[in-house]
Amino acid sequence: MKLNIALLPGDGIGPDVVVQAVKSLQAVADAFGHTFHFEEALVGAIAIDKTGDPLPEETLAVCKKSDAVLFGAIGDPKYDNDPKAKVRPEQGLLKLRKSLGLFTNIRPIKAYPTLIEKSPLKKDIISGTDFTIYRELTGGIYFGEKKISEDGTIASDLCEYSEAEIERIAHLAFKATRSRKNKLTLVDKANVLETSRLWRRVVTTIGKSYPDVELDFLFVDNAAMQIILNPSQFDVILTENMFGDIISDEGSVIGGSIGLLASASVGSDIAMFEPIHGSYPQAKGKDIANPVASILSAAMLLEHFNLKEEAETIQYAVEKSLEKGVVTPDLDKNSTYGTNKVGDFIADFILHAEDTTQVNKENIEFGQSTII
Ligand code: IPM
Ligand code: MG
Repeated sequence: MKLNIALLPGDGIGPDVVVQAVKSLQAVADAFGHTFHFEEALVGAIAIDKTGDPLPEETLAVCKKSDAVLFGAIGDPKYDNDPKAKVRPEQGLLKLRKSLGLFTNIRPIKAYPTLIEKSPLKKDIISGTDFTIYRELTGGIYFGEKKISEDGTIASDLCEYSEAEIERIAHLAFKATRSRKNKLTLVDKANVLETSRLWRRVVTTIGKSYPDVELDFLFVDNAAMQIILNPSQFDVILTENMFGDIISDEGSVIGGSIGLLASASVGSDIAMFEPIHGSYPQAKGKDIANPVASILSAAMLLEHFNLKEEAETIQYAVEKSLEKGVVTPDLDKNSTYGTNKVGDFIADFILHAEDTTQVNKENIEFGQSTII
């Protein structure tokens, strides 16, 4: 298969991790006889620095002519600490999501058996956890009208949803349960918010066309508690933009590190794949960022194009790296492996590995083949 992939490394550790995902994709291309063509473009704080715009027209054009987008991270502390800033890096990401019509963000949350001890949560609570969050991505409070009074003392953000916006993501979420455990949980705040009551009504109606799917409802405050109290009760969680943003970071604790969580944003046409972690500016260029979330996002990209075996090959290589302890310091503070070495190991494993492979740690240190 031939694929044109737009690369938007963005800010902070974005460039550090996207390079590693590209290595894995290249390894898959070599191993399976595909051709992936990459084209890089600017987004975020770096785009503001160079062009004044967090999403330059040229970047959008590169994305639109590609088959898929691989995104790194966005954000820079110089904007976080300046409430008066008129232009912000995050606006680039939001505009990109909106312009590409990426109304559904899919965030899988899984407890890796090899990492179960790393999570701050107790092993017997998190073992067996495997759920996916379907987060609405182009509506709600993120995109409603924003106001600030002239004297700057009163502000508001409008949260608005239409039936149509709820219906399209709800269908995707219901369908997703069918290749899983046939259970959908709508997370909302229907005891307080009108928008949530609309979500409940629309999702209940749609549920009638999926009689094989068990549908239940949870208020978001309770859901936040249940996710760390009894996460294995969930299969697919469907929720609006802001609630999804919050509970997906919470869910990342289950996996042991936010550096492991990948996501896919899909919609009308071109899809985008990105780690859920932020730009982690303190780690930029230090060769310590965990590349796994970005690499697993590349696997989701392959899955999106029905390259299932290829995606599984990446996932398997990642699992091997975790199992063999070829991990960045967020997962093992005594680890001597950096971003690059972990990326090399995974790419190398994709190309050469078999289950019986022995890892030659000395070779990893030298950046040579990891396989004996
Ligand atoms: C995410 C991020 C973004 C969001 C930020 C960077 C705008 O937190 O993708 O979860 O809030 O959607
Ligand atoms: Mg977030």
